[in-house]
Amino acid sequence: MPIRRLLNSRVPINFITFCVFLSCFPGCILSAIVTLDSIEIYNTHELLKKPTVYFKCKGDQNKTVLPDVKEKKVLYKFNGEESWQPLTKIEGKKCKRCGLYEEDTFKSDDTFEEWELCPSDFDGPDGKYQRIKEKEFNATFSCPKCDTAGSKSNTKTHEEAKKKGMHVAVVLFIIAVVLAVCIAGGVIGYKYWQKKKRQQEQARFLKLFEDGDDIEDELGLDHVI
Ligand SMILES: *[C@@H]1O[C@H](CO)[C@@H](O)[C@H](O)[C@H]1NC(C)=O
Ligand SMILES: *[C@@H]1O[C@H](CO)[C@@H](O)[C@H](O)[C@H]1NC(C)=O
Repeated sequence: MPIRRLLNSRVPINFITFCVFLSCFPGCILSAIVTLDSIEIYNTHELLKKPTVYFKCKGDQNKTVLPDVKEKKVLYKFNGEESWQPLTKIEGKKCKRCGLYEEDTFKSDDTFEEWELCPSDFDGPDGKYQRIKEKEFNATFSCPKCDTAGSKSNTKTHEEAKKKGMHVAVVLFIIAVVLAVCIAGGVIGYKYWQKKKRQQEQARFLKLFEDGDDIEDELGLDHVI
């Protein structure tokens, strides 16, 4: 019986799993990569030789040397697929302390700037983030998969969307339960109605016989009288 099988516990359990998956989905995005789109340095800190510019985040094992960036006041553009890309990975909503530096042979490395790189900063089109430091550099970073939930513009909408998602899941679940109950009720009702109808028909049939007998009896009596 296909309906009976459909009503088996398998469907609701799959459905619950699906709802849980749906409601957790916005929070399930784990890590996103950050790439460098373009950079222009306005200043170098070495006087005698070409600079070696690198990017590094606290907590990352390796620094990323930008091998092409040698001249100041030249705009270098990248497509994100260069051998040294991506620059770093950021996870969830957590910021990372990162910086642009220049290697120095004799003293500690020079710093262009060090700042908090936050997922919520990448709220430009295609997950772009432009960082300009006067007299130092102008750089554009890209992170299309970053969780921009913390940015001022869409904090609320994201939270609302999350709540809405939960709401939709709950409503879907209730609809599914009601539907299942309706189908079960319908099947049981139909069976009951069939049985009842059969009984009624039987009763009517028997009654017809009895009525017939009565008429015959009456006729017989009339005859006798
Ligand atoms: C850091 O660099 C070393 C050697 O250059 C390499 O073996 C290692 O995999 C790198 N680590 C990361 C996290 O990229
Ligand atoms: C910084 O670089 C971008 C290109 O990557 C450019 O559109 C923008 O005008 C530059 N900004 C400044 C202040 O130079």
